[in-house]
Amino acid sequence: MYKLAPSLLAANFADLGTQLYEIEKAGAHYLHFDVMDGHFVPNISFGAPVLKSIRPCTKLFFDVHLMITEPERYVGDFAKSGADSITVHFEAFQNDKDLLSCLNKIRDSGTKVGLATNPDTPVENLFKYLEYLDLALIMSVEPGFGGQKFIPNALKKAEALAKQGANIDIQMDGGIDLNNLQSVLDAGVNVVVAGSSIFGSPDIGKSVRSFLK
Ligand code: DX5
Ligand code: ZN
Repeated sequence: MYKLAPSLLAANFADLGTQLYEIEKAGAHYLHFDVMDGHFVPNISFGAPVLKSIRPCTKLFFDVHLMITEPERYVGDFAKSGADSITVHFEAFQNDKDLLSCLNKIRDSGTKVGLATNPDTPVENLFKYLEYLDLALIMSVEPGFGGQKFIPNALKKAEALAKQGANIDIQMDGGIDLNNLQSVLDAGVNVVVAGSSIFGSPDIGKSVRSFLK
């Protein structure tokens, strides 16, 4: 069975407590946090204080996706605020040394370690880091905004990654709904991020249950 990670970006922040209760009760596994700095991506979302304030409200696994430059500066803040997993972007680093040093910093912070690739970045770039990772994230939209259309090439990337046979989670993020879910799972993905297709639905709990059927 795969894990479902609803993306907080699409939630109604005025009603967050209720919405988190509904997705957890319906069986979602993770809560996906899209952290954006207006620099690595052209949009701003939220930071570590949001994790901290909702950490006591839910037992969901906090899956933090950092779409920010210099992510190494913020690893400690997110770990202390309740992150269970921290994912940084391959594209956020100038060189191998800085990337590895950040992955080590995440590991030392006590959370799981994730590495993401943008749609245009060949997935082969991730291969040499697999031994340092718990999770590899294949973006199926350009990072920055929820509600975009799924880019099918992400499926080929996930398949190529799965073929490596590494003992890590493969996550896909962006434009996933009930129509393309099966193709995502068939490609070897075992952690599915879904924002608008869950929080945009009039019955969030029902939508989570449909994903997990
Ligand atoms: C995009 C984010 C995604 C996004 C997913 O930058 O990383 O997590 O919120 O949302 P949907 O499912 O609406 O594409
Ligand atoms: Zn994300």
